[in-house]
Amino acid sequence: MSESPDHSSLAPLRARLAAIPTLDAEALEAEAVALLGRKQGELTMRLKGLAALPIEEKRAMGGALNVLKNELEAAVEARRAELAQATSANANRDVDFSMPGRAQWPGTLHPVTVVVDEIVEIFRGLGFAVALGPEAEDEQHNFIALNFPPDHPAMDMHDTLYLDPEGASRPVGERMLLRTHTSPVQIRVMRDGPPPYRVVIPGTVYRNDAFDPSHAPAFSQIEGLAVDEGITFVDLKATLTHFAQRFLGADTRVRFRPSFFPFTEPSAEMDVGCRLCDGAGCAACKGTGWMEILGCGMVHENVLRDAGLDPERWTGFAFGMGPQRIAMQRYGLHDIRLLYGGDMRVLTQFGGVGR
Ligand code: PHE
Repeated sequence: MSESPDHSSLAPLRARLAAIPTLDAEALEAEAVALLGRKQGELTMRLKGLAALPIEEKRAMGGALNVLKNELEAAVEARRAELAQATSANANRDVDFSMPGRAQWPGTLHPVTVVVDEIVEIFRGLGFAVALGPEAEDEQHNFIALNFPPDHPAMDMHDTLYLDPEGASRPVGERMLLRTHTSPVQIRVMRDGPPPYRVVIPGTVYRNDAFDPSHAPAFSQIEGLAVDEGITFVDLKATLTHFAQRFLGADTRVRFRPSFFPFTEPSAEMDVGCRLCDGAGCAACKGTGWMEILGCGMVHENVLRDAGLDPERWTGFAFGMGPQRIAMQRYGLHDIRLLYGGDMRVLTQFGGVGR
């Protein structure tokens, strides 16, 4: 009897069979060639080598090799399928078309910026240029040159945010403060060169107020100033009526109520017909049918004279409005603080498209 076939000699091949499920794609293809390749594959060589063996051995070893060959082929196929599936699962994970897209918010202009830009644009159409001035101002420009008497309550610490409180010892007029309105820029424009002037002055102003539904310690204003020969109250009314109708609608009604500002005479406040109730009276207009949108008047002769202009030759009008208030009316906001919090619900509803 011949020896039983040496099955142990298959052990290294069996070990490689066992390792197939762990191979990556590249190693798997290399191993498939190394084992099963038609010319040099180890299993192929072993099968070819059978021819030299005695018949008994040939039969036993041939059977075992064929079983192993089938197992190797099956293992390579199974591993190939597994890797292919993993690859397509990966591809699907990178681009999952069923996922909602990532929202990109490009940003918008703040509703107050939208209002300021629109207002400035309307006045530019009337020949007004834009002028700017400092937010840190001196008392001279903020109050005194604007004909405020030295004991005016607006100059109180209680109302105005003074810079450098130690500077309180400085002479009145030189103390520095955060401007309480944009009107001091009127003075800067007039001192800067001779009339005629037609300017609008957007900017931030500061008052010693706590945040509440209708007040903020820092807010915007847009000032206007027109000085020329022969300017009258008719020009004031016509200009501001035109503005209101451009900004709020051609059918907007306006009225001028007498008022007081130290730097204009006569002075007025301009109201527009309430847009929410169409003049019938509602909560927004406190039942009056009118909403105040700006203060205005003819430039006081003391102001002109103080700025070096002859009031017999030059006359003019000035106005000032609060874009936050106007934005609140336009967008129906009941609390000014909504315009300060960076609340995305407010900004995305009323903000302009970003530039
Ligand atoms: N400066 C005034 C205010 O802040 C508004 C105003 C400006 C009034 C110009 C008349 C003329 O209330």
